[in-house]
Amino acid sequence: MKRLWCGGRRVARALHAVVSWGLVGIVALQTFYVGWAVLVQPGDWRFHTNLGHAIGGAIVVAMLFCAIGWMPARFWLAGLGLYALYSMQYLYLYWPSEAFRFLRAFHAPNALLIFGGALYLARASWRLFAQAGPPRAARLAVILGAGCLVIASGRLAGAGVEQGSGTARPVVLAEATEADVPTAYRTMTSPFPLGDARAREVGRDLVVSRCTVCHGTDLTGQTVGRVEAASLVESARTRSAAFLMWAVSEGSRRGMPAWKAQLTEEERWQVVAFLKSLAGGARPGGTAP
Ligand code: HEC
Repeated sequence: MKRLWCGGRRVARALHAVVSWGLVGIVALQTFYVGWAVLVQPGDWRFHTNLGHAIGGAIVVAMLFCAIGWMPARFWLAGLGLYALYSMQYLYLYWPSEAFRFLRAFHAPNALLIFGGALYLARASWRLFAQAGPPRAARLAVILGAGCLVIASGRLAGAGVEQGSGTARPVVLAEATEADVPTAYRTMTSPFPLGDARAREVGRDLVVSRCTVCHGTDLTGQTVGRVEAASLVESARTRSAAFLMWAVSEGSRRGMPAWKAQLTEEERWQVVAFLKSLAGGARPGGTAP
């Protein structure tokens, strides 16, 4: 009985090594997805966002194996510390006050701390696992397991992107018409009265910070990679508010990100309020006439 229990403990420690080395790989992959969103498909943070959640999951699973494997206190502390740093990543991004907007910049250096912490945890975990003198096959299994974990999480982040929002996600917006707008969006109403100046202003800040990378600084459209990011000035004239809300929320399979994960419904309506004012001659740099 005692031997069996010890065996279980050893397996848990081996799995802890798998997850913590996997974590190191996932954090490294996460920096690749930053490169993607900055240099390949500007503004396409979907892979990075999806994989970000996996990091929290991996830390929790590592702590679970830590408990099952009766691992020394320093592993607990490292796990808790990592989880605290991980939580800070969200805090930096979603700090409620605009006055502390600069805190967002700490998201990047904090990621370095997470990488360092994960590396410490993984090396310590491997040493503890190796001390018990595991057979070669077990060592190999841990290394392969960690590799598979990284590949699987990377793929999962991609799968989440592919599925997007299911049927509501249009294939190509440029070829869509008002008739394609799903009922859910056609029946939505904006909480802001038509021409609400404050909503337009908030909307303009959002558009300038999120949309100009692809749609151009004057929003008249440009080619991004191999796709054409539409002229939003043109869309403002030809598309209904419901169409714009649908396009902004769900994106398309041809390069337009789905913003509903990153902007609240209220913020998306503020974006639409600003877009609609473009038809009246407003521009991102100026004020509405
Ligand atoms: C990563 C680049 C990228 C970013 C960032 C981006 N877009 Fe787009 N957008 C596109 C591309 C590409 C298309 C054309 C997609 C298509 O036709 O399927 C598009 C299409 C659209 C359309 C539909 C235009 C039409 O009439 O067919 C709207 C509306 C739109 N974007 C609004 C926005 C808003 C608002 C933002 C910021 C919150 C934004 N986009 C950010 C790339 C981007």
